[in-house]
Amino acid sequence: MPNEHKPPLARIPPEVAAVSDYEPLARERMTQAAWSWLQGGAADEITVRENQAAFQRLRLAPRVLADLAGGHTRLTLLGQSFDHPVFVAPVAYQQLAHPDGEMATVLAASALGAGMVVSTQAGLPLEGLARQAKAPLWFQLYVQHDRGFTRELVHRVEAAGYRALVVTVDAPVSGARNREQRAGFALPSGLSAVNLRGAAQLPPHTAPPGTPPLFGSPLVETALTWRDIAWLRQQTVLPIVLKGVLAPEDAVRAADEGLAGVVVSNHGGRVLDTVPATIDALPAIARAVSGRLPLLLDGGIRRGTDVFKALALGASAVLVGRPVVHALAAAGAPGVAHVLQLLRAELEMAMALTGCRTLAEIDQSRIWRGG
Ligand code: FNR
Repeated sequence: MPNEHKPPLARIPPEVAAVSDYEPLARERMTQAAWSWLQGGAADEITVRENQAAFQRLRLAPRVLADLAGGHTRLTLLGQSFDHPVFVAPVAYQQLAHPDGEMATVLAASALGAGMVVSTQAGLPLEGLARQAKAPLWFQLYVQHDRGFTRELVHRVEAAGYRALVVTVDAPVSGARNREQRAGFALPSGLSAVNLRGAAQLPPHTAPPGTPPLFGSPLVETALTWRDIAWLRQQTVLPIVLKGVLAPEDAVRAADEGLAGVVVSNHGGRVLDTVPATIDALPAIARAVSGRLPLLLDGGIRRGTDVFKALALGASAVLVGRPVVHALAAAGAPGVAHVLQLLRAELEMAMALTGCRTLAEIDQSRIWRGG
């Protein structure tokens, strides 16, 4: 739980000028263990760093004297209208950052007209969050081993008014989250994935020395496959977006299976270390699917110019994870709203200075190729 002695800021100090300014403010307000959980990634955190570094390596190609009159950032995605392409990524257990948890994030996203994806591992009931939402909410689904429970959960999600299922497929087994382990992170009592109450759990797996630690375990034997995705499609009227794709072949398969979209994501570097940055994986995926389904991207978005670069290389929208939680820890709902507003303002600046009136005009020619 957040430190008692550092409450969230009552007002946002004027020197908070950029998204990254929230990071130190959050760190002062979270326990060391919770901070390790939030910031950390898998193993040596090479992918965590690379997600941001890859954006920083790309250069923009400015254009002058373009007609910007009537410019805007609106888009339609899965048949839904959004004011701008900056979405809130699904992040579990947001009460580790702020007592209001996901409720504050929903209110902020609604105020800013931002799409938000609520995690399966939210600490608050999905119905209560949906009641507060004024912008479309999507639900991130971890398909449960207990498929009957999964079907019931999906029906709850539909009944509550969520507009899409974002099925996370890049974490069938947990990553080696060493930073978290070293900090002794554990969920505090009183905080749990309330929307999963009643789901039958897999039996605990202990691998005696000399036997495979993972292979043969119930976790691996019942791990999700494309067959389960086809099954899931039969259970719901909601569009299904696959989250956690880095390989062009998997994105093409998602299109073949009739899915509604793909999130190019490496889970913020939290599952398999040393996979590439998402922005480096995006161009080949965009080429392979060639518009058959929309691509979203997350991982390392810290600036409006990062949003712009993702759109230039083939994404329709982006999702933001850790920075939202930094702002939540630092200043609650107003902080989250501020981060979303900053990213949108910086995106608009980048569009104006590269001569793009609309998101559709942001293309590869806006990335500097040299020469
Ligand atoms: C996540 N992410 C995540 N993804 C998901 O599908 N379900 C989840 O419950 C969570 N939980 C979660 C917790 C924390 C603390 C983090 C940092 C991330 C991954 C998230 O949706 C997203 O892919 C990354 O956070 C994007 O990278 P950035 O924006 O954090 O760099």
